Amino acid sequence: ATVAIIGAPQNRGQPYIGTDRGPALLRRAGVREMLASLGWRVDDRGDCDMGGPVEAGWPKNAAAVEAGSRSLFEAAKRAHADGCLVLALGGDHSIALGSVAAAIASRPETRILWVDAHADCNTPETSRSGNMHGMPLGYLLGLDGSMGWLPRLDPRHLAFVGLRDVDPEERKTLRRLRDDGAFVSTMKEVDGLGIGGVMREALEALGFFRGGHHDEKSNKNSPPLHLSFDIDAIDPQIAPATGTVVRGGLSFREAHYVCEAVWETGALGSMDIVEVNDGLTDAAQAQETVDLAAALVVSACGDVIC
Ligand code: ARG
Ligand code: MN
Ligand code: MN
Ligand code: MN
Repeated sequence: ATVAIIGAPQNRGQPYIGTDRGPALLRRAGVREMLASLGWRVDDRGDCDMGGPVEAGWPKNAAAVEAGSRSLFEAAKRAHADGCLVLALGGDHSIALGSVAAAIASRPETRILWVDAHADCNTPETSRSGNMHGMPLGYLLGLDGSMGWLPRLDPRHLAFVGLRDVDPEERKTLRRLRDDGAFVSTMKEVDGLGIGGVMREALEALGFFRGGHHDEKSNKNSPPLHLSFDIDAIDPQIAPATGTVVRGGLSFREAHYVCEAVWETGALGSMDIVEVNDGLTDAAQAQETVDLAAALVVSACGDVIC
């Protein structure tokens, strides 16, 4: 099987320089070699053009974010059509506009697992920051209709894990999404149920059996799963090199467990790893965060012991 790697060096969805270096940092950390040693054929398709200059206006850098996401959308659709596991290296989380849209456009029943401290379901109207990395789900769910090229994400196909910093308007949106069938969980559920319980509930809500040898049932004819992993889901003590840090996040093992459980569904079709920024900490903290991001990708792609 082939994993297609697509770099999406976007930084226009948030205020800092540095998320644009994510694809290069992850490659340098050895993602391709580690995937190859798991038995994947690795097809690195290079980086997409992330669009134009910084711009004033609301939301901020709207043209560059939309153009960049559209170029990722096209590249990711081609990789899906080639039958690849599609791995998008961010970049800030606005790139999910392209990667998630490509997954849904290619296979409309795709389920989305959104692992993040944030809900990223703002719209230009509800956002307080104007930063588009806080809006990809708002657009994908059709809460703002201005990007006509986007396919629509059905809230029943969406699950959140790791939430702990959600804006007031987003809280209202989350309650509506839950009424409409989304699976919404926060760090409170991780505390209460453990990450095993949260992942079991999340994957069941999306229609999967827990796969692997733990369950005789399989997900053979299930829809594909897209994992959108924002590195800020993890506790900043462990993953400090990111732009919107929030204390109280996933532990090192909890984050790995999420990825291992995703792999064990047997349904992973595509993944994003986003929001790594080496410009905001010292070099050692940056490297720790990059290495963790790389390790999570590899976990989700099958680095389980038995
Ligand atoms: N909710 C805040 C906003 O809309 C923060 C979003 C952070 N998103 C992220 N992908 N790190 O600006
Ligand atoms: Mn995010
Ligand atoms: Mn459906
Ligand atoms: Mn986040």
